[in-house]
Amino acid sequence: MIDIHSHILYGVDDGSESREMSLEMLRMSEASGVTDIFATPHVNRKGLVPDWTDLQAKAAELQRAADETDIHIAIHLGAEVELNGATMDLLKECKDDRAYCLGGSHYVLIELTDRTRPNIAENMLSTLQLRGYWPVLAHIERFPQLLEEPDRLLGWIEKGILCQCNTGSFTGYFGPKVKERVRTLYQNGVIHLLGSDGHRTAFRTTDIREAHEELERLARKEKRDDLWQTATANAALILKDRVCYPDVPDHWHVKKRGFFSRLFGH
Ligand SMILES: [Fe+2]
Repeated sequence: MIDIHSHILYGVDDGSESREMSLEMLRMSEASGVTDIFATPHVNRKGLVPDWTDLQAKAAELQRAADETDIHIAIHLGAEVELNGATMDLLKECKDDRAYCLGGSHYVLIELTDRTRPNIAENMLSTLQLRGYWPVLAHIERFPQLLEEPDRLLGWIEKGILCQCNTGSFTGYFGPKVKERVRTLYQNGVIHLLGSDGHRTAFRTTDIREAHEELERLARKEKRDDLWQTATANAALILKDRVCYPDVPDHWHVKKRGFFSRLFGH
């Protein structure tokens, strides 16, 4: 499995607090069957932009520490870039150094915010694409405004924008509303990538075993492809910097759910 979204680098954002914590997070990932993990620290959140060269050094140092402690996992550097006006100044051109992109590819993980207006985001995402970036939207299940305009979301996917969801959303870690939204997204086949979005070892961890079980159960129940495998295959394309062409549904489908299902979130 390839975890596309995590905060395993210590001392750069609200994620890991120490080297030991980072290593423990990596152990949790390895135990979950993760072979590759992207370190995606927050960038452009509250105006803070960590230096790309510093991030590269931190990722390399953590990889060395993991290797030395016999943790078998490959760390790839990326970033979780908040989308706002300043993003346009930060991501001016997808240059050869691939600064703030995922693992040296053209893909860049973009975080919307509660304040994001879909029509403004659409303009900015189009501009980023014209500049050579391939946007991946982080944890789209957190943004109800996107589900209010599903045709717009489908239009974005048609233009090559990919969508990532958090594994914890499937287990209900972020509450029943988020769980319901992630299921709707899953049923519509618009989730292309998965990430733990792991921040610590005591909460919001990189242990995604429970989510794996839930995804297998969902695949059986909904008779859909196993998202765990599909997401890993798509993430492998990112590592090769190859274009991912997901199927785009013809229309948005809202599944009616029974009273007990809505009540208990099953
Ligand atoms: Fe994150």
